[in-house]
Amino acid sequence: MNEFPEPEIIPRAFHPISRENIDRGALKVMYRLRDGGFSAYLVGGGVRDLYLGRTPKDFDISTDARPGEIRKLFRNSRTIGRRFRLVQVFFRGNHIVEVSTLRSASEYDLDDEVLPANNTFGTLAEDAFRRDLTINALFYEIENFTVIDYTGGVRDLRDGVVRLVGDPDRRLIRDPVRSMRVVRHAARLGFSIDPATWEAVLAHRDKLLLCPDSRLRDEMFKDLRGGSASEWARLVLRSGILDVLVPGYAVLSDADTRDLPDLLGVVDRLRKKDVTLPDHVLLALILLPWARRSMDLYRAPVRGQEAFLFSRNLRAALDAQLCHLNISRAIKEEITVLLASLPMVRSFSSEKDWPRKLRRKSYFPEALSFFHLVEEACGGPPAREISFRSPVRTGAGGERSPRSRPRRRSRGRRRAVDSPRKQGGIFGLKEG
Ligand code: CTP
Repeated sequence: MNEFPEPEIIPRAFHPISRENIDRGALKVMYRLRDGGFSAYLVGGGVRDLYLGRTPKDFDISTDARPGEIRKLFRNSRTIGRRFRLVQVFFRGNHIVEVSTLRSASEYDLDDEVLPANNTFGTLAEDAFRRDLTINALFYEIENFTVIDYTGGVRDLRDGVVRLVGDPDRRLIRDPVRSMRVVRHAARLGFSIDPATWEAVLAHRDKLLLCPDSRLRDEMFKDLRGGSASEWARLVLRSGILDVLVPGYAVLSDADTRDLPDLLGVVDRLRKKDVTLPDHVLLALILLPWARRSMDLYRAPVRGQEAFLFSRNLRAALDAQLCHLNISRAIKEEITVLLASLPMVRSFSSEKDWPRKLRRKSYFPEALSFFHLVEEACGGPPAREISFRSPVRTGAGGERSPRSRPRRRSRGRRRAVDSPRKQGGIFGLKEG
């Protein structure tokens, strides 16, 4: 007996998705699968974005062909993934279309630790119900150009609602990171969140800590670099998700955190100009409301031994704030420099007053850029010269972490943090 409801099939005349807007490589893949006797569907974010008239980031295909069968159809392909194998089909210009076999369940919803190999593949209905959100669970097929909807995703796209597929409590208990996906898509699309989904997000937010730190970190950076970081900030503050990810937020008041959306709004503005800020800058912006309140950052000493000690305390306190995000030591050092230098740069009323000695410091360009970002968020002029050592200019996607391998730290920079005597305080100014 089929336990799944019948899907709603939306004919071509009743939906806005046109083949003209579908990537040619993805169409080729679908036609070749069909000609090979298999089913082929455009799935996930591609269907969602096309339905909304947006440009999809990528076009993923699902089929009833098994990975080995897919490989035989496409010479220019390779298989990736261990548990759920995925075939990447390569096209000219480094263009990749990913093809997966329809799955019976999400790996996070499985009861068994190890799923027998012959049990991973599923029907179209199973594949729809294993997905996270109704708006991400639609299929577009090329036989009759219909959209196939098992979960009410089309209604939710029309109404602008983000809703988890299935029982929201159960889905979030199985994979708490889904709550970050709920918030991400609501922020990105400007959608509201279905009340039952929202209640579940609130009820299960603490379970995020059961997930691997590196997964939380990667999801968070994806949100910060996705172009809707400002709206994301409002939602993670309102849902309490940020209190879980960065524990210091739990004791901050609304007044303390009020400007976080503005701070991250600057990130969104730069993103539109294809400037992706490095990890340490994004984290320093997130930590600023906490540092201002809990470390009294804006009244911190700005020179001499006291400044050095403050910076050391700040560095130690950062460990507790970033303990769930698996952030490297080197990045924590860089965050410390950015935050600790802020009261110093702020202490001069005009650029003309910055001492030459300060300008010569290796960290000065970064400290100044960070100051400009913060000023912009506070209503100042748009930050012009952004000079972080690893600003990354990417294409529209822009989600890659800017740093693929740890950079070697220059001696000068290490001293700036570690050796107050040689530098005359962390900011390189002598006392008095
Ligand atoms: N998916 C899911 N659960 C997850 C991750 C992904 O169900 N935890 C499914 C969704 O159907 C999603 C698709 O896999 O649409 C692709 O996932 P991903 O690329 O992470 O997100 P998109 O929805 O495509 O959004 P975008 O790529 O635009 O960020």
